[in-house]
Amino acid sequence: MTLDEKVDQLLQLATFFYEGSYIDGEITGPMEDLGINQQTIHNSGSVLGGSGASEVKSIQDAHLKTNRLNIPLLIMADIVHGFKTIFPVPLAIGSSFDLDLAKKSAEIAALEASVSGVHVTFAPMVDLVRDPRWGRVMESTGEDPFLNAEFAKVFVQGFQGDDLTADKHRVAACVKHFAAYGAPEGGRDYNTVDMSERQLREMYLPAYKAALEVGCEMVMTAFNTVDGVPATGNKKLMRDLLRDEWGFNGVIISDWGAVKELIPHGIAKDKKEAAKKALEAGVDIEMMTSCYSGHLVELVEEGQVDVALIDEAVLRILELKQKLGLFENPYRGANEQLEKDVIYSEEHLQVAYELATKSTVLLKNEQVLPLQKDQKVALVGPFANNTDILGPWSWQGSREKAINLQQGLETKLAASELSVAPIAEIEKVTAEELAQAIEISKEADVIIVALGEASEMSGEAGSLANIQLPQAQLELVSFLKKLNKPMVTVLFNGRPLDLHGVIDEADAVLEAWFPGSQGGLAIADLLYGVKNPSGKLSMSFPYHVGQVPVYYNHFNTGRPQGAPDAQVRYVSQYLDIPNEPLFPFGYGLSYTNFDYSNVKLSSPELDVNGHLTVNVTVTNSGQVEGEEVVQLYIRDLVGETVRPMKELKAFERINLMPNESKTVSFKIDEKMLRYHHTDLSFTSDAGEFEVFVGTNSQQVVSHIFTLKK
Ligand code: GLC
Repeated sequence: MTLDEKVDQLLQLATFFYEGSYIDGEITGPMEDLGINQQTIHNSGSVLGGSGASEVKSIQDAHLKTNRLNIPLLIMADIVHGFKTIFPVPLAIGSSFDLDLAKKSAEIAALEASVSGVHVTFAPMVDLVRDPRWGRVMESTGEDPFLNAEFAKVFVQGFQGDDLTADKHRVAACVKHFAAYGAPEGGRDYNTVDMSERQLREMYLPAYKAALEVGCEMVMTAFNTVDGVPATGNKKLMRDLLRDEWGFNGVIISDWGAVKELIPHGIAKDKKEAAKKALEAGVDIEMMTSCYSGHLVELVEEGQVDVALIDEAVLRILELKQKLGLFENPYRGANEQLEKDVIYSEEHLQVAYELATKSTVLLKNEQVLPLQKDQKVALVGPFANNTDILGPWSWQGSREKAINLQQGLETKLAASELSVAPIAEIEKVTAEELAQAIEISKEADVIIVALGEASEMSGEAGSLANIQLPQAQLELVSFLKKLNKPMVTVLFNGRPLDLHGVIDEADAVLEAWFPGSQGGLAIADLLYGVKNPSGKLSMSFPYHVGQVPVYYNHFNTGRPQGAPDAQVRYVSQYLDIPNEPLFPFGYGLSYTNFDYSNVKLSSPELDVNGHLTVNVTVTNSGQVEGEEVVQLYIRDLVGETVRPMKELKAFERINLMPNESKTVSFKIDEKMLRYHHTDLSFTSDAGEFEVFVGTNSQQVVSHIFTLKK
């Protein structure tokens, strides 16, 4: 390969550069903006996009005709929670606490994407999140490092399978966004992230590391700074930690434009310096900007950049192409017939339905759910028949094909029993719409109010300072409240919300998130008890945005509220709102009741090389079958640094018939007690620990044990 060819192999462009006039046309628009020419495109190494086997085949064919060495393109795309069959958004999947189903969803996404010509997915996104103002919380599995790591592993395993070379119906995964993109100041996207290395390693890095430990092929850099240096130009983060300490030798890709953004960040004066810094930091592929293609040759010729850095980047990209079998078959899994056979299949839709039922969280139920078949129902609100229920990052999904709530309810109710008053807009209710909503509600036995956010109100660049529902929706609720009828609120949203104006007014609240292609069916079955809600929040719902960031695994402080000797005023508290969130991590109700009893430790002491067992008996003391996510938390009572009040260490989803009991056993060993000390050593301390077992992070039964070293 010539130096030019090597450098251009590091460039990723969107599909439109490979179609139509760009192949042979004059340099216009985006090409001119990027300062590239046809030869650059002919030499380039990968494509962002690709949504159909025939499209991808023609792009690959055209490319191979023009690439001197016949090097095929890598086709990469964002397949985050489904390709065409769309699953609930990852924050919802996190609330399912169902690792098997999450893995299955990734397998299905990989199958549908691979037959459509995609080789690599830009997923899983495993950024830990604590701030619902940030729009991309919908893309994460939540606020807990252990839970995020567990989901990161199964997503990667689902996408990649056991043998990427042999199994053409898998895709390489790309864990993102490295690192700590989920902690922007003010919850404002792309904003500064600044934390200690200890906090970074303790809370934010575990999920990326877990993805890599199960073989994730790629890493995507984050837009934000990490300790004062943008991740995309951060040598300490990538060369020293990711590559040297963790031993990752796969491909690192920048996020869209992130190499060139080193200039506005202020660590590069121009594209040439941005190219130098990103390459030296370890970025192999530059996405959608042309710092590399425009300046690396010159930097090598001037002796400013060692060509060995370019060689190693090219080699990693070629090795990934080799692993994916692209030199033998540049189409890989692309197959027009299979596209027709497998995409949106009944089997895939069934998994989307199951996951939507398990991801939905029952937040409140004052004996109005499940609904009874003989009740007349008024369905009102902006999500009554809105198919914007796929959520952000569902670009291949079809809203038209999605089952909305009205359609779901129509499978339960005859036309005479269901009246519908949809609201056309998310942030406005017209007088006519309000009048219709009130009119049908007056005639109904129960009102279902379907509320929420438009999908563009979360997702990338979807940050909000006010996380309440739109005022018009709250006003609708208060009008309906005056009718004194049982009112059920179903929420379609991408973030935890401040639910004031809804939570007290409604008799029941069901958090559906963005439930995906089968959302309406799943919610209808949950409303009628065909399925019993079992989701548990993977991210806290704040009492008020003023609490943010609010999360369960917080430190105690020196003046904890409610301590026995706490003063009335001089404690860590707000004068106007409680410290606790409205709903905590791990919270979710059921139509039945689960009683916890006989929490027992196998021993009050844990030997450093041994383990102890925690047993708990869970009984379904209600009238209907249900699933419960039994949670185990541990608190290190005295550490070298302050330690969280609780840390999730294990969980198990169990199914219980009425009056059935099961004993759940959790194993605790010394490794679970390790944390980063002030010298960043990852070890445990001898001493006392409190172990908690329960139905959420607040309702727990606890015991003490001692680690002996
Ligand atoms: C976006 C996102 C990233 C995505 C990439 C390609 O800006 O930050 O998550 O994978 O661009 O679409």
